[in-house]
Amino acid sequence: MNHPPHPKDLHHRYVLDTYSPSILLTRGEGPWLWDEDERAYLDFGSGISVCNLGHCHPAVTKAIREQADRLLHVSNLFYNELQPRLAHEISTRSFGGKLFFCNSGAEANEGLIKFARRWGSEDGRYEIITMENSFHGRSLATLAATGQKKFRKGFQPDLEGFRHVPFNDIDAVQSAITEKTVAVLVEPVQGEGGVYPATNSFMKGLRELCDQHNLLLLMDEVQSGMGRTGKHFAYQHYDITPDGMALAKSLGNGVPIGAFEVANKYHEVLPAGSHASTFGGNLLACAASLAVFETFDQKNVLDHCCKIGERLQKRLKDMREEGAPIKDIRGMGLMWGADLDVPVKDVLAEARTEGLILLAAGENTLRLMPPLTISTSELDEGIERLKLAFTE
Ligand SMILES: Cc1ncc(COP(=O)(O)O)c(C=O)c1O
Repeated sequence: MNHPPHPKDLHHRYVLDTYSPSILLTRGEGPWLWDEDERAYLDFGSGISVCNLGHCHPAVTKAIREQADRLLHVSNLFYNELQPRLAHEISTRSFGGKLFFCNSGAEANEGLIKFARRWGSEDGRYEIITMENSFHGRSLATLAATGQKKFRKGFQPDLEGFRHVPFNDIDAVQSAITEKTVAVLVEPVQGEGGVYPATNSFMKGLRELCDQHNLLLLMDEVQSGMGRTGKHFAYQHYDITPDGMALAKSLGNGVPIGAFEVANKYHEVLPAGSHASTFGGNLLACAASLAVFETFDQKNVLDHCCKIGERLQKRLKDMREEGAPIKDIRGMGLMWGADLDVPVKDVLAEARTEGLILLAAGENTLRLMPPLTISTSELDEGIERLKLAFTE
């Protein structure tokens, strides 16, 4: 009998090698994943902060099933029942602005960049200040915005109009402002760059500078948003209000959806015909995302995230005191980074053999982002597995 080809063989034959996948994961539930041999793993990566409510959350699955039976997609040439409801959920939990829906983080940031350029076009301003070590996506504009050269290698010339300055250095931002500057784009917590939270004084300073120079303050909340840091959006830890914000990743808990929001006073900057996305805000994605917000409320996910986050921080500190090769620990909520004295890729591999999925970030930082719904005992179990990985 002819066996169908193994997915890994098919992958290497037909999928471009832009990633280097390891194990073949076939199913999930909550913070657990199983591989093709039915081996269980605790997922401390949440699909890079996508499945913040855990895998196959029943409320999200139910919403997807029901919507799939009713209507999957209508073009944005028609009203749809769910997109305005989702816009309302996001707007009322943030800064009361208006939303545009798309499909990914890069597309959400790309939209914010277009919004800023369009607003600045009236007086010839287009430059956007972004941070060194930042990550904003892989499209050409978001690559140019990204303050890490390695991602741009081979894709030059860079799209012009971006200036990178050191993160958390308000004087550097001030010095980079020119008559062409239109906006500042920042991650409140740099994720891919190594889990670096912005300081309070930096965020406040940014707001003040933007007010003084008539610039837009734009937040990239693609990774830090949707409860990951213990508030709906990470900027809410700081006493500021942005003019725009990009979301994606866990907005649909695994169903692809992105969005950007702009403050109400800017709602005329992008009139009919100025921006579009075929799938943006389609019914399936919106149904999933509405179920995410409903679950946040019903299950007090933010409170739980804060409590479990404190426990994770304490466990990491204890581990360091007990001799684990950890140099520095940074983070908020359930978004934590630990700089290591040993190669992070070795720790990721050892952790996998112990049944624990972790992420790397930056130069040599271990990134821990378990689902926000993880239980105390599951968190502790993951920490025990991490300790074993370190001893190997
Ligand atoms: C802060 C931030 N912005 C943008 C992106 C890009 O998102 P996507 O991969 O959905 O395009 C990412 C992805 O990791 C991110 O972490």
